[in-house]
This record gives sequence, C-alpha cells and structure tokens, in this order.
Amino acid sequence: SWRPGDMVSELVEGVRLQVGDARAVAAVSGGVDSTVAALIAKKALGDRLHPVFIDHGLHPEGEVERVLKLLSTVGIEPMIIDAGEQFLSALEGVADPEEKRRVVGRLYAEVLELVARELGAEYLVQGTIYPDVIESGASPGADVIKTHHNVGGLPRDMGLKLVEPLRLFYKDEVRVIAEKLGIPRELVWKQPVPGPGLAVRVEGPLTREKLRIVRHADAIVREEVESAGLSGRLWQYFAVLTASKATGVRGDSRSYGYVVALRAVESMDAMTAKPAELPWWLLERIAWRITSEIPEVVRVVYDITSKPPSTIEWE
Ligand code: XMP
Repeated sequence: SWRPGDMVSELVEGVRLQVGDARAVAAVSGGVDSTVAALIAKKALGDRLHPVFIDHGLHPEGEVERVLKLLSTVGIEPMIIDAGEQFLSALEGVADPEEKRRVVGRLYAEVLELVARELGAEYLVQGTIYPDVIESGASPGADVIKTHHNVGGLPRDMGLKLVEPLRLFYKDEVRVIAEKLGIPRELVWKQPVPGPGLAVRVEGPLTREKLRIVRHADAIVREEVESAGLSGRLWQYFAVLTASKATGVRGDSRSYGYVVALRAVESMDAMTAKPAELPWWLLERIAWRITSEIPEVVRVVYDITSKPPSTIEWE
C-alpha cells in the first residue's frame, strides 16, 4: 500500500526532473485526472506551467461554467480557447467512432501546439491514466478497444513532449491523490466526460441538430438523477442519441422520430461496469420529460448491458 502524501512529492519530483527549466502547457478539462496532473505540474514548475482549457463545443450543458468555477477554487485559471466552430465543422458528418476520436485528437494537438508555441512551451502535461493506456492499446501486444483521444488519438508527430504523471494509476487512486491535494469533492467525484464529449454520444454522423438534441436529453438525465440524490452511487449517467428512428404518436398523428438511450452504470474503475438499478419512477419520469421537452424524440430506452461485453459509451 502507498501513502498519497509521499506519492504527491514523488510525482512532483518526477515532473521537475523531466521538464527541467523548460515551460509546459497543461491541457485541463475539469475532470479529476487532468486537474490532478496540472496541480502536480504546477507544484513542480510554478509559473512555467500554463493551464489551457479547450472549449471544443462538445461539452454537456453547463459543464464549461461548472468546471471553470471548480478549477478556480484550486488556483487553476486556465487560458480558455474557444474552438467550438473549428471542431464542429471538422466533425460534421463524421460517422465512425474512431474517426471522431482521430479528428478530435488532431484538432486538440493543433490547438495545443499553437498555444505552446506562443508561450514558448515544449512540454504538454496530460491526465492520461492507466485504463486510457490499456484500452487505447498503447501497452505492448494490446488490442485497441477505443483510442481514448488523449492517448491514441493524438498524432504521433505532435511537436510537444508528453508529461503524463498519472499514466500508471487507476482512477480510484487518482481520486485519493486528488483529495490529498485538497481538490473539492464535487470535482473529485464528478462523473467522467469522455474527451470527445458529446461527439461520441451521437451515434453515427454528427450534426449540429443531433448535438443539440443529445445535449438537451443529457441535461434532463443529469438533473433528474441528481435531484433524486443518486449521483453519488453512479459512475456515469447520461443520454445517447441512437442512430435508430421509431414511430410515435403525438396528438392524433403519427410522428417518426429519434430514439434516445439512457445509460447509468456503477463501476470502480471503468474497466468493468454494471447497469444501475434506477427506480422505475425515475426512468419513467426521465422518459416523459425527454419526449415532452424534445419534440424530435419519440422513444426512450434503458440500456441494461454490463461491460463487458458492452462498453460504457455507445461509441
Ligand atoms: P468505455 O466506453 O470504453 O469507457 O467503457 C470507459 C471510460 O472511458 C471514458 N471514455 C473516454 N475518455 N476519451 C476519453 O478521455 C475517449 O475517447 C473516451 N471514450 C470513453 C468513458 O466515458 C468511461 O468513463
């Protein structure tokens, strides 16, 4: 067993040794992993560490504001890059999940390289954790399950040297380190949002309309799960806009519309997961709200598969 306090000093020392007198940018997303990585790097490098938040326009509703507020409580005031238009135009019409991740990874790298050049930074600090490494097939002989954008998705010829202090940790360990660093519980226990955001929660070709629909449905899921007081028990809870269409009826007429899938899972480390037994009334309430507040959606289904054989995200 290891002591989180000693671990922090070791990790800080590791970054100091790697980066020396150079400058680094830290890509922060507001997730626990990138926040811990940035704080460790800040302890090591002081004001030679420049946190950067890329707003790719694919965040869940309210996430950007929520995250920036939480980051400021631990002294991280990132430079904010508004790249929504750039990401959306590049992703529009892209259907393949791995292609979506590649596009996001490529744009991320481009934006970060540009910012790094302006700041004179040679290093990029990322919150990559062990499951990202395994599932992206980065360990020798491994199969690629999904290229999590912050690993496999970054182009190999990126002109920045990577600093990944959390590469060997699981998320539950990162959360212990986060508490040791005084990161607020709300951020430590915030549900993970995948790097490519809602782009991998619209099944098939991405469009702005579908993005708007999934964002709205997702906001309803969060609001309902949180006000039922269940968020603490769940690893993740979100909505997916499926590629299916189905028949519904509104008033006296047929309406042919989208199918939204709800996903809520319990997990320790995202390597395995089981569907949460949400109360029936809550599922019904969410279905009712989504179909009444979003006219394009006529049907809501609940995903009851475990990981494996499913994964947590649909793409
Ligand atoms: P899966 O869907 O592979 O997800 O069971 C496991 C965990 O990883 C998150 N996830 C991602 N995170 N970039 C990320 O940074 C990605 O491309 C990505 N894909 C999935 C997912 O939300 C879950 O917590």
